[in-house]
Amino acid sequence: MKGKKIIVGVTGGIAAYKTATLVREIVKRGGEVRVVMTEMAKQFITPLTMATLSKNPIAVDFFDPENGQWNSHVSLGVWADAMIIAPATANTLGKMANGIADNLLLTTYLSARCPVFVAPSMDLDMFAHPTTQDNLRQLAERGVHIIEPAEGELASGLVGKGRMAEPEAIADAVDDFLSSEESLLRGRRVMVTAGPTYERIDPVRFIGNYSSGKMGYAIAEELAKRGALVELVSGPVKITAKHKNINVIKVESAAEMFAACRQTFAKCDGAIMAAAVADFAPAECAASKIKRKGEMTLQLRPTADIAAEVGKQKTDSQFFAGFALETDNEEQNAHDKMMRKGFDFIVLNSLNDKGAGFMTDTNKITILESNGAKTEYDLKPKTEVAADIADVVERYIALKTSKK
Ligand code: CTP
Repeated sequence: MKGKKIIVGVTGGIAAYKTATLVREIVKRGGEVRVVMTEMAKQFITPLTMATLSKNPIAVDFFDPENGQWNSHVSLGVWADAMIIAPATANTLGKMANGIADNLLLTTYLSARCPVFVAPSMDLDMFAHPTTQDNLRQLAERGVHIIEPAEGELASGLVGKGRMAEPEAIADAVDDFLSSEESLLRGRRVMVTAGPTYERIDPVRFIGNYSSGKMGYAIAEELAKRGALVELVSGPVKITAKHKNINVIKVESAAEMFAACRQTFAKCDGAIMAAAVADFAPAECAASKIKRKGEMTLQLRPTADIAAEVGKQKTDSQFFAGFALETDNEEQNAHDKMMRKGFDFIVLNSLNDKGAGFMTDTNKITILESNGAKTEYDLKPKTEVAADIADVVERYIALKTSKK
């Protein structure tokens, strides 16, 4: 939202108190906010609160009765990169759907050239009423983005669907839309592998590794935020994917991950192989629990090198990237891996860097590209590392698209 100009429209609903947090959230994310309120909204939250939080005077009337200064809905509508109406009451939604323009907020909506979002907020029966639903459908057909209300306890004491979405969720929806609008990743399908694999020894034991899946999931979330459709092939992890654009394909073993990747990659514009795949699996999985009887030898077989095999499937219009976690001779090893597996670029993390690698929330990476380029990054939270990686993915999407 950095540098984005956002109109926040507030109508007269009890959830208006949450809009104060929404305005703060947008400002915190670097957005510039102008608040437009209806007369009724002023009964629920004061103009002073909204003006202070948005760092701008609020607008309610077409002109200031004190000094006659004109509040131009047209210039506001043209100024904005997005308009969010939160809370949006049944009354305002009805007026929006039917072109009624009897206050500044509605005339601003009619003049807005930017994407418009509404966060409905009302009692469950009002929300479920066919008239409200018809109005919402009409608005959606005309391109208004509906941020669905949540189920829960309502101001009336009743429980049901009608609670305005939480401020952070509203800000996320708008943020995602604005970043995906500008991104080349919009509508692109990208495969991401994440997490460890478990190789079964018997029904209760396995060989695994310490991968948390955090890096792969952070990449999936970042790509989805920018509008990509992500096929996340995930080994067993404790985290869950949040974004609606992420389709999780759950697997356990390297063999299952290989089968899923082979199928999925064919329909993708590219892939990032971030999983920590087990290199060896027991030659056999015992049918029943192996009893303790002194020393035992486990025979292991190498698993398939998923990246190397999938890399062979790659066409000129698909990008392909992977990870290397190294402990010594890092750059040379990563470079060799990139060449051996057919990666366009490889993300190197060294276990010698504090805060990098498995089980941490941070990572320190170097990106090596097959064209010889090398970029070193600072130690950062994995969410920010994911954004750096997504920037490189965007560059490769642009490059590969030109080959289509
Ligand atoms: N990889 C894979 N399938 C495997 C092993 C690795 O897809 N069976 C992928 C990883 O997801 C990563 C890259 O290959 O993108 C490098 O993984 P890494 O474990 O560092 O490489 P290995 O080939 O296992 O090499 P080594 O363990 O000898 O360093």
